[in-house]
Amino acid sequence: MMTSADIRQAFLDFFRSKGHEIVPSAPIVVKNDPTLMFTNAGMNQFKDYFLGNKPAPFKRVADTQKCLRVSGKHNDLEEVGVDTYHHTMFEMLGNWSFGDYFKDEAIEWSWELLTVVYNIPKDRLYATVFEGDVKEGIPASSIALAKWKSLLPDEHIVFGNKKDNFWEMGETGPCGPCSEIHVDCRPDEERKKIPGHTLVNKDHPQVIEIWNNVFIQFNRKKDGSLEPLPATHVDTGMGLERLVRVLQGKTSNYDTDIFTGTIAETEKITGKNMTSAIARQL
Ligand code: SER
Repeated sequence: MMTSADIRQAFLDFFRSKGHEIVPSAPIVVKNDPTLMFTNAGMNQFKDYFLGNKPAPFKRVADTQKCLRVSGKHNDLEEVGVDTYHHTMFEMLGNWSFGDYFKDEAIEWSWELLTVVYNIPKDRLYATVFEGDVKEGIPASSIALAKWKSLLPDEHIVFGNKKDNFWEMGETGPCGPCSEIHVDCRPDEERKKIPGHTLVNKDHPQVIEIWNNVFIQFNRKKDGSLEPLPATHVDTGMGLERLVRVLQGKTSNYDTDIFTGTIAETEKITGKNMTSAIARQL
């Protein structure tokens, strides 16, 4: 079984092999950006490259970013402690293209990494595609759809609206349509009874999103309008804790080697059984 350290390293090695520079995680407290207090996504530190304010030193980068989602637009606080896969602080694996490759390559490589390197069975994977939004004047994502159709059967592709398939960093800033990858971790018997596509984005504890591929094409302005950016970019984010749980065959992120050592040590120090405390809470 791969450890969480192996899984993290395999991600970085894979994107290095595709020409990406591996860069460090940014600090969790955001400096020089009044629109954001804490880093809530891997892309925050690259905001100026997306907006065209600064040239990117590399066209392709990848990293693993410490993120905190406790306030603002991306706030997971209400979910933490009531399910098995949200955290206030977590690690996000990401790869980026600054005006370089776009939807086809991003989707192709996410598929290759998940199914060839990590060996996740293809029939457990589902992809979501942006259905478009008339009010925003954005059409459905035909390129992402065509790419997914070349990789997955139709019943494994789910259309999503602006809430699930249009990613924005905050009230203002870089944004664009996205295509998520979900994994169905239910036992075969259950999968036969209820098709996985009906459970995507429905808060099912065993059918969870693991990776978001965002195609940054716009800047959301203060007046709410969307301004097309001079170049198009890729911003992806995969939750390390969720990926590890899938690859280690667990039903909860807390049962992976990311948490079990800390939980065991806490039990030793406090003399309390944390596992049953967590189970009771969940
Ligand atoms: N910015 C996107 C997210 O946080 C993809 O990295 O989901």
